[in-house]
Amino acid sequence: MKSINVLNKYNILIKRGIINSCGEEIKKISKANTAAIVTDDNVAKHYLDAVTASLEGAGFKVFSFIFPHGEENKTIETVMKMVEFFAECGLTRSDIAVALGGGVCGDMCGFAAAIYLRSISFVQIPTSLLAQVDSSVGGKTGCDLKVGKNLVGAFHHPSLVLIDPDTLSTLDEKYMADGMGEIIKYGCIRSKGLFEKLESGEKYADIDEIIYECVKIKADIVETDFMERNERMLLNFGHTVGHAIEKLDNFSGLSHGMAVGVGMVALSKAAEAKGLTKVGVAEKIEKLLEKYGMPTETDYEKEIIANAAMNDKKRRSDSLNIILIKDIGEGYIYKTECDKFGDFLKGAE
Ligand SMILES: NC(=O)c1ccc[n+]([C@@H]2O[C@H](COP(=O)([O-])OP(=O)(O)OC[C@H]3O[C@@H](n4cnc5c(N)ncnc54)[C@H](O)[C@@H]3O)[C@@H](O)[C@H]2O)c1
Repeated sequence: MKSINVLNKYNILIKRGIINSCGEEIKKISKANTAAIVTDDNVAKHYLDAVTASLEGAGFKVFSFIFPHGEENKTIETVMKMVEFFAECGLTRSDIAVALGGGVCGDMCGFAAAIYLRSISFVQIPTSLLAQVDSSVGGKTGCDLKVGKNLVGAFHHPSLVLIDPDTLSTLDEKYMADGMGEIIKYGCIRSKGLFEKLESGEKYADIDEIIYECVKIKADIVETDFMERNERMLLNFGHTVGHAIEKLDNFSGLSHGMAVGVGMVALSKAAEAKGLTKVGVAEKIEKLLEKYGMPTETDYEKEIIANAAMNDKKRRSDSLNIILIKDIGEGYIYKTECDKFGDFLKGAE
């Protein structure tokens, strides 16, 4: 078993099969009598019985809340149903919520735990690759509003994260690729070794070790900059452009990880043209994305992408922090102005 401690507050344990002993692990860190599992209908089919049995075996009284899967259900209404459910089950401040699922489930369950009784503890059992390498680590919780994604939320750390790579066996290839987008991003911003391992290895080879390396990178970054004032911004490499593409597609085109991949290539090409990124880096990222069956470009004009990206940012400030990489593994923050972002992106044309 691999273990990573975050902020001296909680552990992330990575082990195949750990889902079947989650009750024992949770018992070690919690005095709760009752555990409320939160999961979606897809994940419930595969893992709810095992998690319920393990929690009951460890002596917890167990309730489960199942919501319909999908980002479209990551709403304040679903979160409210969760907290009403916690109340109906009689959860007290010393009880615990268990998020069993992907990032949608983890973000909403964490948020419900943050606001119910002014905060109760929760445990993350992430079952998608993206949730295992990214969303279950770092304490960001929340849900979407009609005008945009993740606009409501709270910072609330889990008390424990249990990562079972075996759960990836039931995950659709499309979502595996989504997680890979984030994994490639970690290589780009922080670890040349990880990037080279992905380049040279078979597809998904050594995935347990890769998950561990990514979690370690994210945990390190979160430790240095919990409130996202500086270092944590590096995690947004590719995201400004990626979000813009998702928005232009009305969130029904490229998936998040794929859009981020396209964003990493577009930014690196533009930065190469300006001497801000070593020449050849964008091509390396392109090749790695292609290996995992991910797109590397979009048909949208650069100007249109820039406008879509800046609509959000400009509401907050005229200045803009773009995440670039000097070379593979060397992410940095480049400061510019919102009005110049279109010209920046077009630099590669
Ligand atoms: N909190 C953070 O720091 C953070 C970081 C990145 C992303 N996110 C959020 O994460 C969400 C995306 O996460 P996601 O891609 O995991 O989405 P998701 O939770 O919707 O999961 C993707 C799909 O896979 C299914 N699924 C999950 N695990 C499965 C398994 N083991 N077997 C079979 N099916 C399974 C789900 O039912 C769903 O249909 C977004 O809402 C995003 O905003 C949060």
